[in-house]
Parts: sequence; structure tokens; C-alpha cells
Amino acid sequence: GDPEPVQDFCVAAPRGDGEAAFPGLPCKPASTVVSDDFFFAAHARAASTDNPMGSAVTPGNVEAFPGLNTLGLSLNRVDLAPGGVNPLHSHPRSAELVHVEDGEMLVGFVSTEGKFYSKVVRAGESFVIPRGMMHFQYNVGAGAARAMTVFNSQLPGVVLAAQSLFGAEPEIPDAVLAKSFEVDAEIIKLLKSKFRKG
Ligand code: GLV
Ligand code: MN
Repeated sequence: GDPEPVQDFCVAAPRGDGEAAFPGLPCKPASTVVSDDFFFAAHARAASTDNPMGSAVTPGNVEAFPGLNTLGLSLNRVDLAPGGVNPLHSHPRSAELVHVEDGEMLVGFVSTEGKFYSKVVRAGESFVIPRGMMHFQYNVGAGAARAMTVFNSQLPGVVLAAQSLFGAEPEIPDAVLAKSFEVDAEIIKLLKSKFRKG
């Protein structure tokens, strides 16, 4: 998790107001802090899942919710269409508690020993992803599914598996990826065509 706070709060100043600071972001003056700084409404609405993954993550990290600065926690909303997947990724700075609010999803992670742990998790149930482990949520129910994901970091960071390998900018050489995955460069080119932006 994040460092312990040394004051009641440190609402992050608007971007451009200051330099990056450690730990967390610079505080806005305490005299300007208002109740709304501790309030966040973006998770009241579903985000569109009309995309190739059939999923949407609405972030609630310190960048979206400045009142979280120095408090060592954050939360996301995950919406999944039927059959939708929040694709494989990891968080370098945080564990993740997945609390399902609606529907049923297969939630799983792979340990450093290569063991896959997973459960079908239903409304009201939770599953925990240890820090740094590669994981996903996959809607296995008939309808839409929704979870809140809770982190012991204000900014967990996200490493998206496919994007970081096949969408890196500038690109990782085909030869490196082909060797790493023991496949032909053609397969790497196909994957890059899906995950490279340019
Ligand atoms: C789900 O895995 C999330 O990172 O919000
Ligand atoms: Mn996650």
C-alpha cells in the first residue's frame, strides 16, 4: 500500500498547480478545501461497454478523485456486457478487492508460481487479487455484470498485458516477441495490428 498520511487530508491541487511530489500529489491550500472535495459521483453511472472487449472500467483513482490524495485507497467501477471481459492486466502498486454488485463473473489471477486461482463471483460476493498479479474479470452470466474494485493505493497503476507487449511505443522488435512466445513473426504482426495505435 501507499505511505501513511501525516495530516488529516491533502486534497490534490488541480493539474498544473504544482510539481509532482512524493508521496502523492501537491495539496491545494487547506483553506480552499470544501465538502465536494471528498465526494465522487462518477460511479453512479454505467460506462458504455460497446467496444471489442464488452467492458468498461470507470477509474476512481486520485487523478479522477483528488480528495483521495495521501489516503492510500481508491476504487473503480467495472461494467461487463454479457460475454464481456476486463482483459488481463496487473497493478504494480496495489492489491485489488473485487466486490461484485450485479450479475456473475469469473475472476482470476495467476501467481508468481504460475498457479491460476479463480472463482465465479456473484452479487454481494468478493474476491481478492494480490498485488502485482495478472488478472481479469469475465462475465459468465446471462445479463450485464457490475463490480466495484477497491485498492490499497491512491494510484494502483495498470499494466495491460496485450497493450504493453504488442502496443508499446516505439514497438518491441518482432524478433524479440517471436522468440519470447515461440511463434512466427507473422503472428506477432497480427497481434501488433490489433494493439498498436498508430
Ligand atoms: C479491475 O480489475 C480493475 O482494475 O478495476
Ligand atoms: Mn484490476
